[in-house]
Amino acid sequence: MAKLQNKNIILGICASISAYKSPNLVRCLKKDDYDVQCVITNSAKEFVAEAALSNVSKNKVISDLFDKDYSADGAWHIELAHKVEACLIAPCSATTLGKLANGICDNALTTLVVALPKYVPVIIAPAMDYTMWEHPAVQNNIKILKSFGYHIIEPEHGELSSGLVGKGRLPEENKIVEEVNRILLKSPSQKTNKKDDEIEIKHLNNKLSDEINVESDLANLKRENSILRGKKCLITLGSTIEKIDDVRFISNHSSGKMGLALAEEAISRGIDLTIVYGSHSVELPIEAKLIKVQSADEMYSAVMNNKDYQDLFIMTAAVADYKVENAIDGKIKKDENSNELILNLVQNKDILKSIGQNKSQNQYVVGFALESENGESNAKNKLLSKNADMIVLNNINSDNQVFNNDFNKISIITSKYEKDFPKMSKKACAIAIFDEIEKGVKR
Ligand code: PMT
Repeated sequence: MAKLQNKNIILGICASISAYKSPNLVRCLKKDDYDVQCVITNSAKEFVAEAALSNVSKNKVISDLFDKDYSADGAWHIELAHKVEACLIAPCSATTLGKLANGICDNALTTLVVALPKYVPVIIAPAMDYTMWEHPAVQNNIKILKSFGYHIIEPEHGELSSGLVGKGRLPEENKIVEEVNRILLKSPSQKTNKKDDEIEIKHLNNKLSDEINVESDLANLKRENSILRGKKCLITLGSTIEKIDDVRFISNHSSGKMGLALAEEAISRGIDLTIVYGSHSVELPIEAKLIKVQSADEMYSAVMNNKDYQDLFIMTAAVADYKVENAIDGKIKKDENSNELILNLVQNKDILKSIGQNKSQNQYVVGFALESENGESNAKNKLLSKNADMIVLNNINSDNQVFNNDFNKISIITSKYEKDFPKMSKKACAIAIFDEIEKGVKR
């Protein structure tokens, strides 16, 4: 991966239980050669010790707006703001989101962020309980911050410190650093002597051509004008569960993250969405019609029952190719006289193939190919044998652990072309896939 030349970064830390991860986040940034200047809010001190942060960052931690040690004339924030290449706030609290959305400079961190020149990317990783994250005031502030061009690293879904389960967890430290690197490599913010407005134009052009920058206003404009607006799409996601007996089953590791990213992108392009989903660990969008299934047979029926009025199908589900022919009700008892239990596996119906082979002229069908070897040729075979319009190939290997990961490396294959993408967030993959679908569908 290309390296950034200047790596002075501010790490803003706010009051959140996940602030205890900050020293390790500093360590991860330092491992990637960043010079980290921690700036923490007063309330954050309840969750992480300044001594730990200064020790790992090797820089004095700033927390007081009027710290005489730091700068005698009180203008340290201006000086520092012009010295850095990036600003990361992780974790960012609901309070700081609100202050930044409204330009309130009542502490060292918010004053510094407001003082940053336009070319310095601001990357925010909010973390809080899911009820706070879902609050309209918080969501509104996120929208405002995105409109400033700030990058938001979405919190993850999972168990929260309150014991509740929902969206609000701070992503793992190495994921945050990976995201920061990705944003900075795409960003025009590396300091130059160019005038501000030249930098601004470059910034806008960069956003226009950059599918990865999901936060950009221009991307939103593109979505508003999507030719898919008002069309109907069915997405399958998650894994199927094939019963062995009433307590055991065959399944796989699909989390539904890839399908969710596609679903969210579909909704933001104004598409009328149906999701047929198996087992998953993500929160599904309430804007979609949601159909829950368990087995591949159930998924097949749900898709067939909803196929006629769809314009687009995207099959991300990891459907079991085989089911147990001799599955039983109740629980299979352990046989003390035999070391073996034979399960007869028979093939499930191929949902993608049935849809592809029976599609109408105006229906567009996208399948996925999950391959561990000969990816390209297997994906091309799937395109033909399943009569799909597009296959999204994701190879699974040590560089691309696709399941339950936030990142994926995909190639898009149609009968006319093949396009390889770098490893990027599943969100960015979803944007790329929809951009290519828009080129392929009949208007
Ligand atoms: O959910 P995540 O954790 O984010 O992981 C994402 C993913 C790995 C599940 C996703 O990116 C992916 O690759 N999904 C397809 C997995 C798969 O089953 O691949 P396949 O090559 O075995 O199947 C090819 C295509 O046929 C797929 O579109 C699949 O949905 C479809 N299929 C397969 C079997 C079957 N009986 N019916 C089908 O429709």
